[in-house]
Amino acid sequence: MRITMVGTGYVGLVTGTCFANTGNDVICLDIDPRKIEKLNRGESPIYEPGLDDLIHRNARAGRLTFTTDKQKAYESAEVVFLCVGTPSDEVGRADLQYVLAAAADLGKAMTLAPGATGGDAEERRRKIIVVKSTVPVGTNTKVRATIAQHTDKPFFMASNPEFLKEGAAINDFMKPDRVVIGVDDESAGGRLSALYEPFVRNGHPIHVMDIASAEMVKYASNAMLATKISFINEIACLCEAYGANIDEVRRGMCADARIGHQFLYPGLGYGGSCFPKDVLACIGMGIEAEHPATLLKAVHEVNQAQRQAFIQKIVAHFEGRLSGRKIAVWGIAFKPGTDDVREAPAVTIMKHLLDAGATVTAHDPVAHETCRQIKGVGDRISYADNMYDTLDGADALIVCTDWDEFKNPNFDVIRQRMAEPVIFDGRNLYKISMMYDERFVYHSVGRASIWPASVKA
Ligand SMILES: NC(=O)c1ccc[n+]([C@@H]2O[C@H](COP(=O)([O-])OP(=O)(O)OC[C@H]3O[C@@H](n4cnc5c(N)ncnc54)[C@H](O)[C@@H]3O)[C@@H](O)[C@H]2O)c1
Repeated sequence: MRITMVGTGYVGLVTGTCFANTGNDVICLDIDPRKIEKLNRGESPIYEPGLDDLIHRNARAGRLTFTTDKQKAYESAEVVFLCVGTPSDEVGRADLQYVLAAAADLGKAMTLAPGATGGDAEERRRKIIVVKSTVPVGTNTKVRATIAQHTDKPFFMASNPEFLKEGAAINDFMKPDRVVIGVDDESAGGRLSALYEPFVRNGHPIHVMDIASAEMVKYASNAMLATKISFINEIACLCEAYGANIDEVRRGMCADARIGHQFLYPGLGYGGSCFPKDVLACIGMGIEAEHPATLLKAVHEVNQAQRQAFIQKIVAHFEGRLSGRKIAVWGIAFKPGTDDVREAPAVTIMKHLLDAGATVTAHDPVAHETCRQIKGVGDRISYADNMYDTLDGADALIVCTDWDEFKNPNFDVIRQRMAEPVIFDGRNLYKISMMYDERFVYHSVGRASIWPASVKA
């Protein structure tokens, strides 16, 4: 199939590359010329494990090309996937400006796909416009209307929400738990199902449904996952208040098969480019429908409070005096395996520290470049190439992302290089008993803080 991906971000670039890898001819279109120049030089503009190799292989085979030329990208496509961003607007609703701008471009360039004419063939030549971006219910209708303002050529609409996770995006896309396709035309559903067949050989299902339900599946899924995170964080707060240990509570609770272990880890709350904005967008949909999304409002509030509570632990430790403190930070990305720092807890925490007069030296295996672009934070911190180089003379170490390399560090080196052996662990990477033996002042989430007697606070 001839496919055009609109937007070469985390979703468009990964999914386009994977479609090329199964033999399709894929054009990746972006309005950002820097991204396209990079891709045409063979460099990926994002970090995603395994992506560089896959891009090279498919670009070399001539199945994967990159362009800013909208006309060229839209003209030849049989299927167009809209994968542009849908960030929150100023009141938290999904901002559809990028989706609708792409729809207008598409309408202006609309053609029937080249090929046979007459009878069924005519129908097969209609382009399928697929909204892959995460969008509120009803967006497909708006996209259809926007395209139709600029063309009288017939086309099909479809919704195909994406469930990949940054850091494991290729595997998630190649072996999805499920594929969801929303259509209002059976033949379009059949063509899209055929495109996904190579990815579901493991027997996982392709669910074809109506467009509104497909749009809703994505929000419902992300809202559920965000709810699990806020739930366990709320329980962690209660554990701290009452002297229980969240690790033990988790073990006891998650052994129940109805509950399970996944997505029930206490920490700094959810971040990234999806959960925060998707929960807010659900709340926004509720407001528009005059149905208050009471539960999801609470999920959002708990998430905000979680970061603030962790910051307050740091403030309390230093008795409110952060000015002049040297703080080391391990991990900037919102989770391991990605360079994405959008809504990352580390960014909120570092901003607070900087505003309070502390200096921050941070290390992340891949997210320095993306962090540098965050005004007011990325341009005010120092970056260390090595995790231990953040520590010299530091008054505290804050662990913000659970990258594997932070899980089993050399505590002797940490203690020697820091001015004070104080760790704030936002990911509960270390055992309480071990930190006691290692003589650290240790603050974590949902567990009692420890202050070994031999350590000067
Ligand atoms: N990032 C994820 O893990 C993830 C997972 C599932 C779903 N989603 C959803 O997918 C969508 C895209 O997310 P992302 O993280 O890939 O976004 P992104 O910000 O990384 O990429 C979006 C890209 O679209 C480009 N763009 C904007 N307008 C354009 C236009 N008119 N024509 C061509 N290109 C245009 C931008 O330049 C940018 O490169 C969002 O709705 C998001 O919620 C994201």
